[in-house]
Amino acid sequence: MDIKITKTQNPKPKPAWENAGFCKYYSDHMFIMDGNKTKGWYDARIVPYGPLQMDPASLVFHYAQESFEGMKAFYGVDGKIRLFRPDANMKRMNITHKRMSIMEFDGDFVLKALDELIKIEKDWVPPVDEMAMYIRPFCIGNGTHLGVKSSDDFIYCIILSPVGAYYPEGMAPTKIYIEDKYVRSVEGGTGAYKAGANYAGTLQPGEEVLAKGFSQICWLDAKERKYIEEVGTSNIVFVIDGKVVTPTLKTGTILPGITRDTTLQLAREWGYDVEERPVSVEEVFKAADEGKLNEAFATGTAAVISPVGLIHYKGKEAIINDQKTGPLSQRIYDEVTDLQYGRKEDTRGWIHIVE
Ligand code: COI
Repeated sequence: MDIKITKTQNPKPKPAWENAGFCKYYSDHMFIMDGNKTKGWYDARIVPYGPLQMDPASLVFHYAQESFEGMKAFYGVDGKIRLFRPDANMKRMNITHKRMSIMEFDGDFVLKALDELIKIEKDWVPPVDEMAMYIRPFCIGNGTHLGVKSSDDFIYCIILSPVGAYYPEGMAPTKIYIEDKYVRSVEGGTGAYKAGANYAGTLQPGEEVLAKGFSQICWLDAKERKYIEEVGTSNIVFVIDGKVVTPTLKTGTILPGITRDTTLQLAREWGYDVEERPVSVEEVFKAADEGKLNEAFATGTAAVISPVGLIHYKGKEAIINDQKTGPLSQRIYDEVTDLQYGRKEDTRGWIHIVE
């Protein structure tokens, strides 16, 4: 399929990069293609960024048939633009599509379209360390119907935004609140898929947690309310008594994060014992009491590696590593960002250069 390109006549001024925040500004162009369950994907195009015109009866408005991904483009020290493991995002998005009854797509084609889009928008990639251009591919069901059914028609879209740190704390350790009232995901549900619908129910609990003075919410399993699942927009990793421990994906309730996978691969490569298994709140607080909770950090594309300095559960608090960034958190952050900004050679096939 060809990609038709229509350039804007009114390019927007770029923000001062230090004021870019997280997704406050959007670039000049976006990628769109239409899909129909019978016809397949068609009309791939790069067009000026702007509103989508949609019928109010579009299924996404009523039954949330939507998928999305989070990726970033980095401006390297050599002036080249790099993506980090983009094939993993495409693969995961198609897995989401299966679960959400959305048409699957050709990941190689979308990556080619993304390269074209980024080449047009290269001046929107901040040439600044610790900043990137956030990439948001998403897909919505825009067939019209008010009966509960899967859409026959879809829009696949990619938009771009220059970004700095996701959390206002940046790399400074966050305070997390382990949620004991609400749950995010249940076994057999959609918690392991990247669908907007998973986030809607987390907004109000997240606001309550922010109002209590914490930076992020940490979810527990829905069945026993004992086991830690994930944190706000990220996965969570603990270092307990020198071992790297993280909640297992086997329950199907946790997002299989790409930064999570990267972290575990690096930790194994560096000789750490890595355990993917149920991690109870009790175990984490016990380790803290015994001085064995060495580190905790959240992992995600938006959040990168975000150290956790304090955890709270039902009035009890534990301080982690004196609220300082721990050595493994720092090492992973450095390794990942060195690859992303081209400061280190990629020997693992994780980097895609946009050209
Ligand atoms: C990302 O880390 O890129 C995500 O997609 C999480 C998002 C909810 C901000």
